[in-house]
Amino acid sequence: MTSYTPPRALTRRDKVGKFDCGVDSLNSWFRTLALRNQESGASRTFITLDGEGRIAGFYSLSSFSIVKAEVGNAGLGMPDPTPATLIGRLAVHVDHRGQGLGVSLLRDTVERAIRVSLEIGSAAIIAHDRDESVVSFYEQFGFARLGGDRKTLMIPMGDAVATIRSLETES
Ligand SMILES: CC(C)(COP(=O)(O)OP(=O)(O)OC[C@H]1O[C@@H](n2cnc3c(N)ncnc32)[C@H](O)[C@@H]1OP(=O)(O)O)[C@@H](O)C(=O)NCCC(=O)NCCS
Repeated sequence: MTSYTPPRALTRRDKVGKFDCGVDSLNSWFRTLALRNQESGASRTFITLDGEGRIAGFYSLSSFSIVKAEVGNAGLGMPDPTPATLIGRLAVHVDHRGQGLGVSLLRDTVERAIRVSLEIGSAAIIAHDRDESVVSFYEQFGFARLGGDRKTLMIPMGDAVATIRSLETES
């Protein structure tokens, strides 16, 4: 795999205008709103750069809460609403697709969510999927669909920790 910088927070100096993941709504959010949200605190966006300093991928995280009824059995013993961490968006530049960068960003996202949950309670990680076709991208990491909403996926924080531990054992 090409080498990429470790994900770091988006700043005003980063050139977001040429980022293209092939999905207009995601491109538009990243180019126009990611920095604004970064500065207001509404979401935090992390980027990774390719060897030439161009943005190769990003993800954004926010605090979230989910109604317990939507969580199903995985919500047993949880408060209502259940505190969670939202992966608002995650995307890879079209030039860098299919090289493992997406899964590497997802792993970094999950590791960050776990670290933050040690300071601010969060019982699960949620991802809203743009469309049905990307569901399997999250499922292979242990996310599962929530019953009522086919496009929302969740992994309980304990399962996320177990997934990361098993990846650490493999490597
Ligand atoms: C989804 C996305 C992030 C995947 O990034 P990527 O770098 O191409 O993916 P990777 O190379 O890390 O692939 C990892 C695995 O996910 C699978 N995968 C990749 N894209 C996928 C997709 N769109 N749907 C389902 N599975 C996908 C790959 O087949 C691969 O599995 P394998 O290792 O068994 O072959 C990328 O296609 C993208 O940015 N899409 C547009 C934005 C988007 O839809 N984001 C998600 C919702 S916000």
